[in-house]
Amino acid sequence: MRIIFFGDIVGKPGRYAIKKILPKWKKKYQPDLIIANGENMAHGRGMTEKCLKEILDAGIDFVTSGDHILDQENTNVLLTNKEIPLIRPANMLKNTPGDGYRIIQVRTKKILIINLIGQSFMKEEYDNPFIEINKILENEEDEADIIIIDWHAETTAEKVCMGWHVDGRVTALLGTHTHTPTADTRILPKGTAFVSDVGMVGIQNSSLGADKDIAVKRFLTGRHISLRIPKEGAVEINAILFETNKYNLAKKIERLKEIVAF
Ligand SMILES: [Fe+2]
Ligand SMILES: [Fe+2]
Repeated sequence: MRIIFFGDIVGKPGRYAIKKILPKWKKKYQPDLIIANGENMAHGRGMTEKCLKEILDAGIDFVTSGDHILDQENTNVLLTNKEIPLIRPANMLKNTPGDGYRIIQVRTKKILIINLIGQSFMKEEYDNPFIEINKILENEEDEADIIIIDWHAETTAEKVCMGWHVDGRVTALLGTHTHTPTADTRILPKGTAFVSDVGMVGIQNSSLGADKDIAVKRFLTGRHISLRIPKEGAVEINAILFETNKYNLAKKIERLKEIVAF
């Protein structure tokens, strides 16, 4: 089974790049499943039904998220609709709407897709993701063939340690949230495909997909000025392609990167 995973899609340029690249990559890589992190799709903050439909129509099969998932109104309607292939981090507080994981059928395989969020340097409080993943795997691993985790966290230490915590127990653990790709893409010793951060799908000459001049001004003045998504520019598309073996662990992991004009 071949799976493509896109990191955080940022705003309209990110959504545009997904539509642009998918026909080409589908032909080239023949993926069985395409997953994307959509937490920044609506102008950098959360998602709307319209943005979600846009990327699902473009060919994304399943959408994960992170700390920005509830930034827009009415996201709870999307999260609680079981027909919509969208999850939020499993270790968010218990009254958060939606599911932290789902099992989907792809060809002959049952695929468990889990979303987890880190605790280090995050603004909100979350339950312990290391304990949460143990609970989820204990309850669900017998139900699934392939297990994929979107690991939405800030620090590389927390991300790497989760790698050691789940190595050999899941097919892939792919980091999101920092929007910056890391060079540690590999298969861990017990067979889990791992990367600390996939990187974003967003404007390249930016700060994490947002206007760089405003972002620099925020650092310079200490004032919380609203960020803006640039209206044009080159978009960098960061994704991971991985392939599973007969044990439902990773056979191959490769980083995909392309630039498209917006
Ligand atoms: Fe993000
Ligand atoms: Fe995030």
